[in-house]
Amino acid sequence: MPLVFLKLGGSLITDKRGVAAVRQAALDNAAREIRAALDADPTLRLVVGHGSGSFGHVAARKSQMLDGPVNWRAYAEVGAAAARLNRLVTDALLAVAVPAVTVQPSASAVARDGRLVDMALTPLQTLLDAGAVPLIYGDVAVDTARGYCIISTETIFTYLAHALRPDRIVLAGQVDGVYSADPLVHPDAHPVPRLTPDDWTAIAGGLHGAAGVDVTGGMAAKVRAMFDLVHAQPTLSVRLVSGLRPDAIRDAVLGREAGGSEITTKDEGPRTEG
Ligand code: IPE
Repeated sequence: MPLVFLKLGGSLITDKRGVAAVRQAALDNAAREIRAALDADPTLRLVVGHGSGSFGHVAARKSQMLDGPVNWRAYAEVGAAAARLNRLVTDALLAVAVPAVTVQPSASAVARDGRLVDMALTPLQTLLDAGAVPLIYGDVAVDTARGYCIISTETIFTYLAHALRPDRIVLAGQVDGVYSADPLVHPDAHPVPRLTPDDWTAIAGGLHGAAGVDVTGGMAAKVRAMFDLVHAQPTLSVRLVSGLRPDAIRDAVLGREAGGSEITTKDEGPRTEG
């Protein structure tokens, strides 16, 4: 029974240049592809996560949550913005009969100096075992050193991966994988199909922060977290795909050839120089 973590990136389901701007067509399509994956493999166990895009990131910037002294009003505003998007994602999944159940990260997460050190696992594990689809999202969290911090979906996936040992992680964004350079700026940039943890230095320079407002380090921080995770768990593979390419989410979740980029310890197949 394969266990897969899927993230719908903030770049995919929101317009990161707007304010609380959802990309409904992309969200609805992602929901349909999740439904299709569950139909194609009834043994699939799936944890879905989503980013915050023009909801949490913009609220964090506007409220100056991270810019000055601890401000619990700002913390509450950012948590509320992230939760607002979560309701929309839940609705989109329920509309196609995916039994998505939100497990609010900030309800139990505890960080120390920006690192997630504790989060309740039993509710999520119980839902998974029962055949439901736990839904988490990039959120705020209390932090024993800083007062509070923001935890990205990748941070939460990393924490969950240590406990649950997924077979695959799929990150679905706007861009089709890890490119040799930022494709939004350099039209001749090409995706790198297969990367091993050793390739980090070769591709790090081509990764940019993010288009639009981003308070969790943009693509570079997310991809770095996944490199570290694959290094720690060599049986895990991470695939980054564009959720805008038809069937990419479905195929990546099912472990089929799905394009984009794969981060894996298994060094096989063609390799494009970065
Ligand atoms: C960010 O989560 C959470 C908040 C800003 C509250 P992510 O880092 O997972 O979100 P995206 O994918 O960059 O939008």
